[in-house]
Amino acid sequence: MNEHYQKDQGLVKVINQLLTLVVALVMLVIGLIALVMYYMPEPLPEKKIATIEPDAFGNFTDAGKQLALEKSADTIDYWIAPNENLLTGEVNKDVILYGKDLIIHTSDYFGPGGKIFKSYTNGMNCQNCHLDGGTKIYGNNYGAVASTYPKYRARSGAMENIYKRVNDCFERSLNGKTLDTNSKEMQSIVAYINWLGKDVQKGKKPEGSGFKEITYLDRAANPDNGKLIYIQKCQSCHQANGEGIMNTDKTAYSYPPLWGNQSYNNGAGLYRISNFAKFVKSNMPLGATHTNTQLTDEEAWDVAAFVNSQPRPKKDLKNDWPRIEEKPFDHPFGPYADGFDEKQHKYGPFKPILEKAAEFKKKKTRA
Ligand code: HEC
Ligand code: HEC
Repeated sequence: MNEHYQKDQGLVKVINQLLTLVVALVMLVIGLIALVMYYMPEPLPEKKIATIEPDAFGNFTDAGKQLALEKSADTIDYWIAPNENLLTGEVNKDVILYGKDLIIHTSDYFGPGGKIFKSYTNGMNCQNCHLDGGTKIYGNNYGAVASTYPKYRARSGAMENIYKRVNDCFERSLNGKTLDTNSKEMQSIVAYINWLGKDVQKGKKPEGSGFKEITYLDRAANPDNGKLIYIQKCQSCHQANGEGIMNTDKTAYSYPPLWGNQSYNNGAGLYRISNFAKFVKSNMPLGATHTNTQLTDEEAWDVAAFVNSQPRPKKDLKNDWPRIEEKPFDHPFGPYADGFDEKQHKYGPFKPILEKAAEFKKKKTRA
């Protein structure tokens, strides 16, 4: 009996000790967690090196998303072009700098008095539309090119590499001919563009590249209003007939043309009035920036409607947009899949067109 009692006592003791140990361990763990939580640094506010996701067609034209981002613009880190001083020692340095020179002084090489090919282009420089050598924030810069090409482009209905995209601007924006992919000039232009975008994560579009979105009007853009704005705010540089002003030795434009024989043709990106309006809003009159704009959104749309109603060179566009349902809302040439006519696709109002496109996209992703 006594023996039994002693045995039980021993067991109870062991159980008690075990329990104490478990409780102590649990308390230790809780204490440790509390300690870690107490001393953990405040989480840093999430920084937006904002990138925008492509839509179903691989395009980055989702106005709503970008406008939402803009509302918190003070936390946005915009893309910055790499520092040229860091090119020292780069094997490719001379090629990259030649590419840059071709972007800035395109006309010297390919314009009316071109050193390489005479009158191969309309005499404009790439830089006239890709400001500051393709580095200006929302100045149609090249920040997203290296990271997003090759990509599917609805205009050709095919995968496009950077060579094809550069040649598109040669044929349309410069109303000229294409360059041989293997030429020193094409290789240099692409080397420069790739170098500019080298720090951008593949597949992403850095904030501040391309164009800044503007709000869409509830009405059609009005070329008559646009003409008045043009006379007031553009004509002093771009001239009464949109012909611009050549420099004195006739090698390049001091003020590039906006319409007429020497301007971009009807297949160019700027011929879409949304592109024109966005470009102008953040960049014109000369000196404007996206934080220091000079035009209201309405003025930007109306002046775009006016300029793109003036005569300009025509390109054969029969192979463009092979899938008509992928035409952008402001491509001004039918046929269309959505039932809106050419006039509305040219001048708007665009909201009904965009809404219908969004519905179509939703159906497509559900199916
Ligand atoms: C008249 C204006 C104009 C000129 C001149 C011009 N471009 Fe462009 N370029 C545009 C526009 C507008 C776009 C954007 C079009 C769009 O998104 O639909 C563009 C787009 C591009 C892109 C693709 C950018 C991207 O992020 O997808 C490249 C690359 C390019 N241009 C290269 C050039 C080169 C190189 C030259 C000179 C040989 C040149 N461009 C001359 C207006 C111009
Ligand atoms: C003070 C002179 C000046 C004024 C005013 C001005 N621009 Fe420009 N614009 C320029 C210059 C210079 C360039 C070329 C920039 C470069 O090469 O860096 C240019 C480029 C352009 C381009 C792209 C190149 C092209 O020719 O297609 C467009 C589009 C444009 N301006 C539209 C306008 C509109 C619209 C207005 C009026 C709201 C305007 N500009 C007012 C000087 C001016």
